[in-house]
Amino acid sequence: MHGNLIPNLFGHLEETCGMKAYGLIGDQRVHKSLSPVMFESVFAALGSDAKYLAFNIDGSDLQKAIQAMKQTSFAGVNVTVPYKQAVIPYLDDLSECASQIGAVNTITFDEESAVGCNTDGGGFSDLLDYYGLSLEEADICILGAGGASRAVLQCFIDRGCSSIIVVNRTYQKSLGLCAQLGGTAVPFEDAMKALEASTIVVNTTSISDVSQAREFLKPFSDHGRFKQLRAVIDINYGRKGNFWRQLAQSNDARFVDGLYMLAAQARRSFLVWTGQTIDIGLFLKPLGFKS
Ligand code: ATR
Repeated sequence: MHGNLIPNLFGHLEETCGMKAYGLIGDQRVHKSLSPVMFESVFAALGSDAKYLAFNIDGSDLQKAIQAMKQTSFAGVNVTVPYKQAVIPYLDDLSECASQIGAVNTITFDEESAVGCNTDGGGFSDLLDYYGLSLEEADICILGAGGASRAVLQCFIDRGCSSIIVVNRTYQKSLGLCAQLGGTAVPFEDAMKALEASTIVVNTTSISDVSQAREFLKPFSDHGRFKQLRAVIDINYGRKGNFWRQLAQSNDARFVDGLYMLAAQARRSFLVWTGQTIDIGLFLKPLGFKS
């Protein structure tokens, strides 16, 4: 059955015959990801002929995709928006960390099983360390309540932060997330008031520019100054005219985007797949990362 299914699903899967294959699954936005460029550069630097391919998968094909990858030469895949939670029912096992966070961004395959784990939280933690962002007496606001938000929230909780609010377009989702992990869900209507006390804002939604979601971003620009704001982190990367950068600038706050986190979570995924710890510089270089 898979003989027909696999080429139909993945197009270039035959390319990977006889070699180790890795990849990324997401929706149509997957093709904007820098992960293939980054991993192929790392493989080349290590003298490996492994492949890393990005796949735009329809939500209704997710289970078939996981099953097909398990039964072929795929050693592992990353999972991106919007499937970090949706893949969980199709996996055979979860690492402790993925199970606690409730989201998966890294899957390891062998012939019998697909095991999900989460390196987003560790990657975000690496970002905080790299930029030396102090969490002392920090009042944190996380925007978004999807898979990435879960990892970021868990990271702040693990680091002992006690003042964390979560703001999301869909309030029910932030309520569920906070009930499970911690933090306080604030309805979007009350968000600007709550944000006045925030010192660090982290955008985990996929929205980084005004043309993507005017309604969601308008209250932030209409509000005026957020007096306590020290830093704005957008976990997305490569966005031109980034709204969150502008918000940071207009409040004299520091801005950090997600490029370092991309490299850091990938390095941790590579460790999960191969047992090898690689210098992060190998992952940062193909991204054109400037410190
Ligand atoms: P990921 O796994 O990368 O976190 P996700 O689970 O699809 O991706 O979550 C995307 C996040 O972006 C969610 O918080 C989503 O808000 P909803 O829960 O209301 O869907 C948020 N998001 C996506 N598009 C948005 C938009 N146009 N306006 C506001 N928030 C948006």
